[in-house]
Amino acid sequence: MSTNSMTSRDRYGGREYILLKKITPHYKFYQNLVGLTLASHFANAKPNGSIKVLEIGCGDGYTSRILLDSDPRVSLTAVDISRERLSLVMENFGAELSSGRLRIVLSDALTLMELMADRTYDAFASAATLHNFDKRYRANVISQTARLLKPGGLFINADKFAVDDPLEHAQHLQWSLDMLNQFDRLNISELKASGFPITRADLLQLKQTWHDHFLEDEKPDIIQHERAAIASLIQSGFVDIRVIFRAQVDAVLTAVRAKCPE
Ligand SMILES: C[S@@+](CC[C@H](N)C(=O)[O-])C[C@H]1O[C@@H](n2cnc3c(N)ncnc32)[C@H](O)[C@@H]1O
Repeated sequence: MSTNSMTSRDRYGGREYILLKKITPHYKFYQNLVGLTLASHFANAKPNGSIKVLEIGCGDGYTSRILLDSDPRVSLTAVDISRERLSLVMENFGAELSSGRLRIVLSDALTLMELMADRTYDAFASAATLHNFDKRYRANVISQTARLLKPGGLFINADKFAVDDPLEHAQHLQWSLDMLNQFDRLNISELKASGFPITRADLLQLKQTWHDHFLEDEKPDIIQHERAAIASLIQSGFVDIRVIFRAQVDAVLTAVRAKCPE
């Protein structure tokens, strides 16, 4: 039976992520790297075929848009456990949904992955999702990903990864907590004009929610260490593992499914 620990932490139905994007300086850049990496991995491969991509935790489709725009051959299956967020994807991806380039599935990620056939996908992509899972669930997602990817398939995760050095990690965490002070300076009228009506009291509450969320990410059964993530990929049969970007707590990890059993 698959379990995850994230939904109970997900109190604002996704609104909190819109504001986090606004205040994190590298957010756009590290998300765009997901698309660039996918495009460059398949630049000289599959000249006539589609690139089948599985995305876990698509949310409102921010990363899905990057994946779909990265290469016209991408055919994306995007999974999320939140009906509310998938309804936003339905509003914003009408053309891709009707053409069949995008398929969305309302499900717990692991439950769905366990039902899928071996070697179905050319790539697995995820952003800002896996770090929320508990370690056991996350390890199961990685081993299912290895099973679902074709040999030579690509793994990309733009996510929160703690560095090994505790002092350096503590500095990164403090940076994240300090960054939340920008919530105090967000302009309520501008947010309202951009379709995000929120009161000052809501903003303060969101700031506190993120503060709590960041501390919860530190719990021993949740924290995603870069070194452990790499070890889990190696154990599941991935090679060519790289950290292609890091800014404070965030990093982008890529790996390739080994062509034959290691
Ligand atoms: C931070 S959002 C990421 C959205 C998008 N990738 C981005 O970076 O903007 C994480 C998403 O994971 C989804 N999620 C949480 N637990 C899940 C699970 N067990 N299975 C599938 N999706 C899950 C949440 O509903 C949420 O939409």
